[in-house]
Amino acid sequence: MTRSERGSFGSRLGIILATAGSAVGLGNVWRFPFMAGQNGGAAFILIYIGCILLLGIPGMVSEFIVGRHSASNAARAYGNLSGRKGWSAIGYMGIATSMIILGFYAVVAGWCLQYLTASLTGSLGGDMKYVQDYFFTFSSDPVKPVLWGLAFILVTHWVIVHGIRGGIERASKMLMPTLFILLIVLVAASCMLPGAGKGVEFLLKPDFGKVDSQVFLEALGQAFFSLSLGTACLCTYASYFGRQTNLMRSACQIAVIDTVIAVLAGLMIFPAAFSVGISPDSGPSLIFITLPNVFREAFASLPVVGYVVSVLFYVLLSLAALTSTISMHEIGTAFFHEEIHLPRRHAAWIVTVCTGLICVLSSLSVGAMPVLHLAGRSLMDFFDALTAQMLMPVGAFLTCVYVGWFAPHKVVRDEFTNRGTLRSRLFHVYLFAVKYVCPIFITLIFLHQFGLI
Ligand code: PFF
Repeated sequence: MTRSERGSFGSRLGIILATAGSAVGLGNVWRFPFMAGQNGGAAFILIYIGCILLLGIPGMVSEFIVGRHSASNAARAYGNLSGRKGWSAIGYMGIATSMIILGFYAVVAGWCLQYLTASLTGSLGGDMKYVQDYFFTFSSDPVKPVLWGLAFILVTHWVIVHGIRGGIERASKMLMPTLFILLIVLVAASCMLPGAGKGVEFLLKPDFGKVDSQVFLEALGQAFFSLSLGTACLCTYASYFGRQTNLMRSACQIAVIDTVIAVLAGLMIFPAAFSVGISPDSGPSLIFITLPNVFREAFASLPVVGYVVSVLFYVLLSLAALTSTISMHEIGTAFFHEEIHLPRRHAAWIVTVCTGLICVLSSLSVGAMPVLHLAGRSLMDFFDALTAQMLMPVGAFLTCVYVGWFAPHKVVRDEFTNRGTLRSRLFHVYLFAVKYVCPIFITLIFLHQFGLI
């Protein structure tokens, strides 16, 4: 299939928004703010930015090089760059990783849809105990959360079958600006509350006393998950980039958007939480238990504003999740479409059915069927740990080693410099990072995750 038959993004803006859409997701809202607040505020943010520069951007550019060079799905792309088919294994691993992530990510995305409808109908209103019971009753229901998760995958499917320009690019051009505007509105509402300054201070005041080696490793892991590295997602999107796309500049722009949105998410959560004296945490309990309480308390004297803020918040979360699930779905769809020669619609159904199954099992494992567990944890937690702690770091490590050490130097240079049309001063810096810095740091995260350092 030629480059033009495959379809491509139609504009530079489309490329940036779609790829940033993959990066901006639930990870930005429920993980980054808490980590920053806990680990030294601005000191953590500075370290995080260092990690993005050292590891994130070189890692992204490497996936972009593999994808854009071959203009094909991830499995073929990894085989093509060096001409040795064995390297396709990294692509296959990325496809499997992204499908597993999509399966369990959709469960949480489905919860966001339920909370969106609940906040619209006003059924989230109640005291702290009520909100907590609401979450546990809903998430352990055998049917409702499963249906919401499947509904989320079907919405993703619907975008995917409309193709690259008409589906992914069009959706990203609508969803990303909407997400940004909603975030600004919510940041303003949160920062205007009495006592909000304490929350801003918690997030932004630098406290270098809290920084230790653990904080460095946490920042690295977060940078890596947030940029969707190691799942072949960036490689698949880059296969739709044009020849003239500047890979380094695009990676920097996407990293900036992702980081700004993560910091804004903190400015949305902490001022409101501190204003009512509720201590924020991370993960599902932050967005499904803590925040509904925060919104109710913070806007107790203006219930209409509380209602609007709560609805907008769940719209925002659902949009952030959707722009990420679209990217995860595309990886498998491109593969089945091109390798098994199925029409795109049918290829998308294979991904939808497989990920739907993972979604059903994950959802039941944290609710109605706790017997569904593996290695001492619920299936959902198992899939989460398997992908975030194992498959993603290994995928990113192998990509850097492959591009840095095994792929033909000339091809890598040509892709980086757009066949010599861009200045190549940064190329040596990039190559150094990808050959030495990234593999060493990713190995450190990996060892840290297994408690070996
Ligand atoms: N980067 C997304 C987030 O921060 O929520 C998560 C993600 C998206 C992981 C796409 C992997 C992926 F392929």
